[in-house]
Amino acid sequence: MEKKHKVIIDCDPGVDDALAINALLMAKNVEVLLISIVGGNRPLEVVYKNGLRLTQFFNKNVLVAKGNRPIAECDKVSTSYFHGENGLGGVELAYTEENLTSENSIDVMAKIIKENPGEIEVVALGPLTNLALLAQKHPEQFRSIKAIYSMGGTFSHGNITPYCEFNYYFDLPATEIVLAEVVKQNVEFHMFPLDVTMQVYFDANEFTFLRFEGGRWGNLIADMFEKNYLVNSYQVIGKPICVLHDLLCSMYLLDDSDFDEVDSAIVTINKDKEKYGQLLMEKGKSSLYVHKKVDGYSLKKKYLALNYSKELLDKYEFMMKGSL
Ligand code: RIB
Ligand code: CA
Repeated sequence: MEKKHKVIIDCDPGVDDALAINALLMAKNVEVLLISIVGGNRPLEVVYKNGLRLTQFFNKNVLVAKGNRPIAECDKVSTSYFHGENGLGGVELAYTEENLTSENSIDVMAKIIKENPGEIEVVALGPLTNLALLAQKHPEQFRSIKAIYSMGGTFSHGNITPYCEFNYYFDLPATEIVLAEVVKQNVEFHMFPLDVTMQVYFDANEFTFLRFEGGRWGNLIADMFEKNYLVNSYQVIGKPICVLHDLLCSMYLLDDSDFDEVDSAIVTINKDKEKYGQLLMEKGKSSLYVHKKVDGYSLKKKYLALNYSKELLDKYEFMMKGSL
C-alpha cells in the first residue's frame, strides 16, 4: 500500500487555490493535516472563511488556522478584480468556525512537523509570509519539512508588475527569506512560476462542460471563475481562459510525470528601482527546483479524474477533441 502524503496547505483562497485544495482533499493517498491561511488575494480576515467554506463543502474535517500579516505591507495590491470581494468569485457557501483554531498557523505547523519529522509536505499557494515566519520562529521544524511546493514568481512577464508575480511580490521580504533559507537548510523546494503555470487553463468551453456534466462541484467551479476571473483574464490576455496557477502544486505532489523540464538554482531578488522584486536565477546544484514545462491537458484530465468517473472523462476528451 502506497504511503500517504501528509500535507499542510498554506493558501489565500482564491479560486485557483480552491481547485488545488479540492485536489488534495479528494486524493485517496493524501492526508491534509492543516489548512493554514495567509492574506493575499484578499485580506486574511476575508479568505480564512473560504478555507472553512471549502472543507465544509467537501465534508472534510480539516483543521483551519489563520496565519500572519505580511512582513512588509507592500503597496496595497489586491486581486479582488480576479477573485471577487469575498475571494471565491462572489460564490457564498455556508461555513461554521467549528474547525477553526485560535492558535497561529505557524505554531500549529510547527507542532505537526515536530510530530512527523521529515514527512510533511507543504503546498504553498499564496504569499510566503507564514513559511518565512516559520523559518524564523521554528527553524528546526522548518529544516525537517520533507518538501515545499510553491506557486509563485516569474522569469518572464509578470502579472502584478511587468517583472513580478503576485504571490512573491505581495510580501517580498518573506519571499527573500524563504528562497534563501530553503537553500541554506537544504529543504526541497519546488517553485511553479508563471512560466509553467500559464500552460494550464480552463477555457469558456470547459466551464460550460463542467456546468453540463460536473454536478455541484462543476457548477461551483464555473460560478467561481466566470464572474470575475474569466472576464478579467479576457481583458488582460485577450482570450476567454482562466489559468489554474495553484493547481499545479497539488498535481505535482500527486503525480510529477506531467512535468518534464526543471532547473535547480539559487534564486535571488533584484533590488534595482525599475525592476524591484524581479527574480534572478543562477542555475546550479541546489535544493530549489524551478519548473518550466508541463503537459497541461494530461494534468487537467488527472485533476478531473479525482472528482469524476471514467464516463465523464470520456465525454471531456470527446469535447476537447473538437472534431464531431
Ligand atoms: O499569481 C497567481 C497567484 O496569485 C495564485 O496563487 C493566485 O491564487 C493568486 O494568489
Ligand atoms: Ca493563491
